[in-house]
Amino acid sequence: MSETAKFSLDRRLAQSLLEHIAADLNRDVVITDARGQIIAASKPAYIGKQRDSALYTDPSREGVFTGYWAPIDCGGQFAGMLAVAGNPDEAAPYAKLAVRYVEAALLASFRQEQLLRLFQEKKSVQSLLLSKLIAIQEKERRCLSRELHDEIGQMLTSIMIGLRVAAGEARENECSRLQEVRELTANTLEAVRRLALELRPMLLDDHGLEAAAKRYLQKYSSRYGIEVSGSFQAIAGERFDGGIEITLYRIMQEALTNIAKHANATRAVIEFGREAGSLTMVISDNGGGFDASSDAARSDCLGLYGMQERVSLLNGTLNINSEAGKGTTITVTIPVLG
Ligand SMILES: Nc1ncnc2c1ncn2[C@@H]1O[C@H](COP(=O)(O)OP(=O)(O)OP(=O)(O)O)[C@@H](O)[C@H]1O
Ligand SMILES: [Mg+2]
Repeated sequence: MSETAKFSLDRRLAQSLLEHIAADLNRDVVITDARGQIIAASKPAYIGKQRDSALYTDPSREGVFTGYWAPIDCGGQFAGMLAVAGNPDEAAPYAKLAVRYVEAALLASFRQEQLLRLFQEKKSVQSLLLSKLIAIQEKERRCLSRELHDEIGQMLTSIMIGLRVAAGEARENECSRLQEVRELTANTLEAVRRLALELRPMLLDDHGLEAAAKRYLQKYSSRYGIEVSGSFQAIAGERFDGGIEITLYRIMQEALTNIAKHANATRAVIEFGREAGSLTMVISDNGGGFDASSDAARSDCLGLYGMQERVSLLNGTLNINSEAGKGTTITVTIPVLG
């Protein structure tokens, strides 16, 4: 045990150890904490009393605990006392044996607690790193998206204008070639805008989740030919914390992309709901469904894993309900103020 570790004997553990010992020895047993208060006893009447040698070890007083007291040591730290009832000389070997058992169990439980604490510390560092990573990634995406949309998009628009002017001044045999180049430029502009939208829609930062989600759905339906109906009343005109908006937006993107990639669906539905203290988003499809426990566990699949991690960072919950042939429903609930 480390020097600084504080150890205190847990009442429940003490009582459960005591029950084993008392049953094995077929004698009354008492355990105190380090301050001498009885925290476990085979006779409940003793619990809560202070260990008092005058009171509890006087064999002449009827109904009073008489026995042998042995100190409990946990990794060099005094943890309390254990007593086995009876004539002290006769009870001593039993008490010493029982103390060994208690000490071994306490040490094991203490180590387990330490491991759990370490694990929790590691988990919280991991969450911190993950949230920083996500924040950096979102910042990069925002910059790239603006650059693509504003800089590259503007340049391509200028090229198109130039091509239109050139076409007006060109000889007839050059016109069709210029028209082809113009179409190619228009397609490139469209691809750049789509990429900018995928990376980070400016609408999300400027006008919020409702506007950005509606725009995404329009583009999505025309791109994949999957009809998506949306219900946005619950979030109409509302703004939420930036972290919540981007989390729900990214989950919507991933869930809809999965529907296009894997579901073989013809329809999808997205619905938002509000209850006191929480915001819910449900995305369902009428596709083939899948076995969420096995497919999602594949290490090369990051989409569902990423959804879960993002939701956990906001203390929310993510539920995937899917069955072969019956489509998939993903429900996300995030705590919100108000
Ligand atoms: N709506 C859905 N309908 C049917 N199957 C789905 C659906 N969503 C996910 N799946 C299944 O779950 C698996 C895991 O999805 P996940 O998004 O984690 O990974 P991926 O889409 O295969 O890859 P990635 O998202 O990392 O590019 C998919 O490969 C697919 O088999
Ligand atoms: Mg995916």
